[in-house]
Amino acid sequence: MPSLNDIRSTFLNYFEKQGHTIVPSSPLVPRNDPTLMFVNSGMVQFKNLFTGLERRDYTRATTAQKCVRAGGKHNDLDNVGYTARHHTFFEMLGNFSFGDYFKHEAIPFAWELITGAFGIPKDRLYVTVYHTDDEAFDIWKKVGVPEDRIIRIATSDNFWQMGPTGPCGPCTEIFYDHGDHIWGGPPGSPEEDGDRFIEIWNIVFMQNEQFEDGSMVDLEMQSIDTGMGLERIGALLQGSHDNYDTDLFKALIEASADATGVDPYGDQNVHHRVIADHLRSTSFLIADGVMPSNDGRGYVLRRIMRRAMRHAHLLGAKDPVMHRLVPSLVQQMGAAYPELGQAQALITETLEAEETRFKQTLDRGLKLLDDELAALPDDGDLPGATAFKLYDTYGFPLDLTQDALREKGRGVDTDGFDAAMAEQKAKARAAWSGSGEAADATIWFDVAEEHGATEFLGYDTETAEGQIVALVVEGAATDKAAEGTQVQIALNQTPFYAESGGQVGDSGLIRTEGGEARVTDTRKTADVFIHIATVTKGHVSKGEAAVLEVDHARRTAIRANHSATHLLHEALRASLGDHVAQRGSLNAPDRLRFDFSHGKALSAKELSAVEAEVNAYIRQNAAVDTRIMTPDDARALGAQALFGEKYGDEVRVVSMGTQAGSGKGTGGDTYSLELCGGTHVRQTGDIGAFVTLGDSASSAGVRRIEALTGQPALDHLRHQDQLLAETALELKAQASDVPARVKSLLEERKALAAEVAQLRREVAMGGSDTTGPATQDVNGTAFIAQVLSGVTGRDLPPLIDAHKARIGSGAILLIADADGKVAVAAGVTDDKTGTVSAVDLVKAAVAELGGKGGGGRQDMAQGGAKDVSNADAAIAAAKAAMGG
Ligand code: ALA
Repeated sequence: MPSLNDIRSTFLNYFEKQGHTIVPSSPLVPRNDPTLMFVNSGMVQFKNLFTGLERRDYTRATTAQKCVRAGGKHNDLDNVGYTARHHTFFEMLGNFSFGDYFKHEAIPFAWELITGAFGIPKDRLYVTVYHTDDEAFDIWKKVGVPEDRIIRIATSDNFWQMGPTGPCGPCTEIFYDHGDHIWGGPPGSPEEDGDRFIEIWNIVFMQNEQFEDGSMVDLEMQSIDTGMGLERIGALLQGSHDNYDTDLFKALIEASADATGVDPYGDQNVHHRVIADHLRSTSFLIADGVMPSNDGRGYVLRRIMRRAMRHAHLLGAKDPVMHRLVPSLVQQMGAAYPELGQAQALITETLEAEETRFKQTLDRGLKLLDDELAALPDDGDLPGATAFKLYDTYGFPLDLTQDALREKGRGVDTDGFDAAMAEQKAKARAAWSGSGEAADATIWFDVAEEHGATEFLGYDTETAEGQIVALVVEGAATDKAAEGTQVQIALNQTPFYAESGGQVGDSGLIRTEGGEARVTDTRKTADVFIHIATVTKGHVSKGEAAVLEVDHARRTAIRANHSATHLLHEALRASLGDHVAQRGSLNAPDRLRFDFSHGKALSAKELSAVEAEVNAYIRQNAAVDTRIMTPDDARALGAQALFGEKYGDEVRVVSMGTQAGSGKGTGGDTYSLELCGGTHVRQTGDIGAFVTLGDSASSAGVRRIEALTGQPALDHLRHQDQLLAETALELKAQASDVPARVKSLLEERKALAAEVAQLRREVAMGGSDTTGPATQDVNGTAFIAQVLSGVTGRDLPPLIDAHKARIGSGAILLIADADGKVAVAAGVTDDKTGTVSAVDLVKAAVAELGGKGGGGRQDMAQGGAKDVSNADAAIAAAKAAMGG
């Protein structure tokens, strides 16, 4: 018996042999269709190939496409578990021709595969064609289907459309007759809704395109789009009528039975079926980047998860169960879809976190539900207000409440539920308008109410399509904005980041069929992302689909700065202490700024250590991981959160880097762990480089560091280098002048010295050559004695001569004291040399001044001594030598 994995391979290999390229399934979140919540058929990824907008290097393709039908137009959620063929997640096998082959090949291909490789008996098969399609009728006849088994259908059942607009065309469907033990009739008969005749393959002849205004035109190319549910054909080929009776589902159901200890195929089987189905959709959605939330796709995921959790609860599970089943799913489907294995840890963790949290309110909510039901009349619907309370307080999505009531044969007053919801929103709006925000905020509340929150796609992509849900010009809503107009644009989804958490809003381009708008900033109000733009070409209109492109280079720089801010925060804590807490930040394309609590300026050494640490973690090139969890779990992990900030039910936790020397083997400790809704680099190495511009005071007890990353950081270093080089050049130029300056200084000094000597002489002479100290008579000879401070021995002989000239006749004794040296000189005019000897005078004085000797001639003698303090005694000794 072929397994589901075998059947998938047989299908793809068959078409590969027929010249088809095997193309991987596209992700569940459509990238090229803003109106679609999830990919719900194989042709979605090829939409633009049918209309001729896009070309690829193949014209024949075959896929096994992941599909989710829960939420949006196709919603099978309510029935899952209770029927044989409803799923939230399923795989669609398909073959496609893009202007290559058409009906004449498509029908024989299908017939050959199902009656050949799949070996389905021909007498079990019926086909339908669109009532006017004689060509298809004839081709079926030619391959061997008896005319009475080719049924013409006039309804839309045989005209396939992907949605209200887009490629479409008549189709032909193949039915399998499960046998008369099951009630039901062939298609088109009054009993067609029975379960006996089951459609197994739909072949669409893509030849038309439907437009919004209701018109339909012929496409230039004739193409083929087919779809066969793998689970259905699998059941059939494994001899069953029930999709849950296939090898893959049995494995999952048995895993659920193992985990809960409840018989897989007894009367609790429905719960196992719900769990098996929901395990697939939740795991694949998480692997494709959807995270549980309270809006949009994330809320659909949450609804599916919580529905599964209630069924696990009904099986008596006390602890979280879903996450324990992930290995079985990866074992079954991981080979065909490698993304499942790659995301296994994330899936497991997300399921466990959601289940742990929901468990806290599930029991209390169910008790409330039971109490309310007991108080109602037997067939009464649950009041809307109660359903809303279950939603608002206990986290019960409406369909979970409905599912719980279904088992009891009860319904919910959904109008009452909607009214309670509207009332809550009105209160939120009133609170907002009271907060003094801009008057046009109320417009955005209207938009939020009508269209819901904008879905942010920008964590995974910088280009996506969105649908314009509102245009606001000069504070008023409008339907169209023409070239030159400043306009605020809201879309149902966007890759543009709206300013928050210190990260600036994105800029970029919005393109529609009719024009183009340049976005200069993005903000948000009431969870609606507002693209602030100018229409630069043509016009943009409400309701239009648009291609959104974020300015990639700018966003890349912002990412680098934001991730660097996280590393900086941690490096500051590591170096300064745990008191460092974020007080504000700015993550712009050209720089980053981080304000933090710290009492004093950082020393140059501290700043350079912090800078070095950040750069070390950049070079570590560690992956940057993002996880979603409750604020409490995040704090328990040690994540840095903004004190006093109000966080929602769940938070993003961004981690990066492995702490050096953590001693925990290869894994080690996470370096930076922060609650953060911003966009980040994939690897820390993407930051490139980090340079601080310095630290300053922001306010009392708060310091501010500004820094650069990437190219601007390198530019800054280069600029610093240049400044240094210029300063060095200047110094060098100055240094080359030094010898000349020294020479002139020396000359200056010499001139000054001469001047000083002259002045000293003048001082010694008592101010001039003609006046001077008075003489005294010693033993009949005129005598002058003088003590000169600051005068050297060399200066004495000219002074003696000058005194001799002035007095005409007599003896002179001079004691000079300069630089710790004492010099003595004596002079005797020629007329007195017979009675007085200059040598005697000097010798007598020197002896008193602690010196020795002295000599010269009778008329002029000199000597050296040490101690000027005995000058008076020296003068007296000289006088004595003259006989005085
Ligand atoms: N696109 C077609 C379907 O989904 C084949 O049924």
